[in-house]
Amino acid sequence: MSNEWTDNDSGKFLNLVDVITPSRYEQMNMLTSLIPAGSNEEFRLVELGCGGGELASLILEKFRSIRYLGLDGSSVMLDASTGRTRLFEDRVEFQLFDLDSNEWRQQLPKPIRCFVSSLVVHHLNDEGKRNLYSDLYDALEPGGAVLLIDIVMPHHPIAQSAVGTQWDVIVKEQSKAMTGSEKTFDEFKNDGWNCYSHPDSMDMPASLFDQLTWMTEIGFSKVDCFWQRAGHAVFGGYKLV
Ligand SMILES: C[S@@+](CC[C@H](N)C(=O)[O-])C[C@H]1O[C@@H](n2cnc3c(N)ncnc32)[C@H](O)[C@@H]1O
Repeated sequence: MSNEWTDNDSGKFLNLVDVITPSRYEQMNMLTSLIPAGSNEEFRLVELGCGGGELASLILEKFRSIRYLGLDGSSVMLDASTGRTRLFEDRVEFQLFDLDSNEWRQQLPKPIRCFVSSLVVHHLNDEGKRNLYSDLYDALEPGGAVLLIDIVMPHHPIAQSAVGTQWDVIVKEQSKAMTGSEKTFDEFKNDGWNCYSHPDSMDMPASLFDQLTWMTEIGFSKVDCFWQRAGHAVFGGYKLV
């Protein structure tokens, strides 16, 4: 993988993601079930790095009166997510953004009940992640939440190697089960998507423990990891009413 996410990465990722992500829909359903709102309630949710719009679709199906804003740095991804959420077009908006920059953080519509993100925040370094969590906390309405799916880095090298191996095993199984062959697994291996065995400068997963600690220090309450498998975690925190 190169240093920065490219349109080529977007195209490849869209083809591979359901196979190369451990229990993809279990992760996304878990995150969706943690959103602090009733299914008919009117509220605003912002997704960082919405990709092809799979999580957006699940959320829009469940929350019938939501205003959804999806942000991504790739126009390939924004086209894909716009297409996938066409059924809900009166409730959705998509915009280009640069995850690292402060500009979009100052221009967010308010109030915001929830920020969500899947497999994106690990593209920031640790300082960037901490600043992001602080800015999202400030932008949240009371009672809101930041809920993330992301790749996380265990502290111990033994654990890093173990989760990397577990990820390979799962992708091989999912490749056979979902496509009838190991071809997607081979592509996953050859293109170096497993950041535990193929570290690169674009992927900077942080320890889950550290991220939960930063969130607690920033002021989030009920900070927790809600689900974890093969280095992929669903975690986040809530802002007290
Ligand atoms: C691994 S994909 C995840 C996509 C989607 N959330 C999902 O789970 O399928 C990472 C996403 O983050 C976006 N991205 C990566 N780095 C970014 C940056 N610096 N600014 C904005 N978007 C970025 C990519 O365009 C891509 O859609």
